[in-house]
Amino acid sequence: MRQAGRYMPEYRALRERHDLLSLCRTPELAVEVTLQPVRALGVDAAILFSDLLLPLAPLGVPFHFAPGEGPVIETPVRGAADVARLRRFDPREELAPTQEAIRLLRRELEGQVPLIGFAGAPFTLASYAVEGGPSSQYAATKTLMYSDPSSWHRLAALLAEVVGDYLRAQAEAGAQALQVFDSWVGVLDAADYREFVLPHVRALFDRIGGLVPVIHFGTGTAHLLALQREAGGDVIGLDWRLGLDDGWRAVGDGVAVQGNLDPAALLGPRERLLSRVDDVLARAAGRPGHVFNLGHGILPATPVENVRAVVEHVHARTAR
Ligand code: CP3
Repeated sequence: MRQAGRYMPEYRALRERHDLLSLCRTPELAVEVTLQPVRALGVDAAILFSDLLLPLAPLGVPFHFAPGEGPVIETPVRGAADVARLRRFDPREELAPTQEAIRLLRRELEGQVPLIGFAGAPFTLASYAVEGGPSSQYAATKTLMYSDPSSWHRLAALLAEVVGDYLRAQAEAGAQALQVFDSWVGVLDAADYREFVLPHVRALFDRIGGLVPVIHFGTGTAHLLALQREAGGDVIGLDWRLGLDDGWRAVGDGVAVQGNLDPAALLGPRERLLSRVDDVLARAAGRPGHVFNLGHGILPATPVENVRAVVEHVHARTAR
């Protein structure tokens, strides 16, 4: 999950001097931002600082971040001709700064906490490329899927290939676990997931090659959890919309789960916050294979001391 970001004063200070993509593409700066929450919060793992959209640029889909609006894709991918123009590339070369940041981080973190790398899943990445930015209905993405399935499958297969290589390169550079973000796939029903997404997610996992444990994350996916498990992953991410016990039951036995505190709980008073944390832990019931986490990324208005209180509380409640 996102753990660095605007809620931290030391992040905002760096952002006054550097734009987001410079933080992501300059290894020394990415290292510094990655370490900020590790130092401030006492979390059990570091999450590489980067952004999901980085692979779009070398693919031939340039983008920028517009202040207050989020990502803007300059020429959205809308049809067969756009898909045909995309460029297969080698992430070892074109996304080399990320791998360099990982190598530097492993040196910094040695003996402290493990490092988690990440990338976007084909549906979620494709949705930005096709919509041109954030979306709520995913109308352009679904239009491409339904009206030109062969172009959709070509796009998703290409993304699975380059993202699979990218994740493998992250593991080879030293990432000790990986997270695949399919953040917005919950907008599909199960039949569409099976037809348009599952084969590509499976291809992505195959390509990573089992080098390190992989977390498979989505939101709004209560109806898709069993299919996501079928697609792959050693850990299935659960958002906060369903109880962790119900989510785990839907995922099935023999696989770990990550989650699932509502990030908005961090905005409320301490007592309510910690009782929500206790509820997540009670639903996990001490079973092996629970990774305590938020159900989605941290919100910019979050007080840092509340995050620290959650980390301390979970450590105290789960200490052996
Ligand atoms: O914990 C960390 O170190 C965070 C690293 C991280 C970022 N983006 C940096 C970032 C991670 C894990 C991401 C993933 C990401 N990026 C996702 C999937 C994650 C999820 O929430 O499910 C998505 C959809 C993106 C694309 C993206 N990046 C959007 C839509 C936005 C704008 C929305 C927003 O929150 O402003 C970003 C910007 C972005 N990426 C920020 C950070 C810290 C915002 C801060 C800034 O502008 O400095």
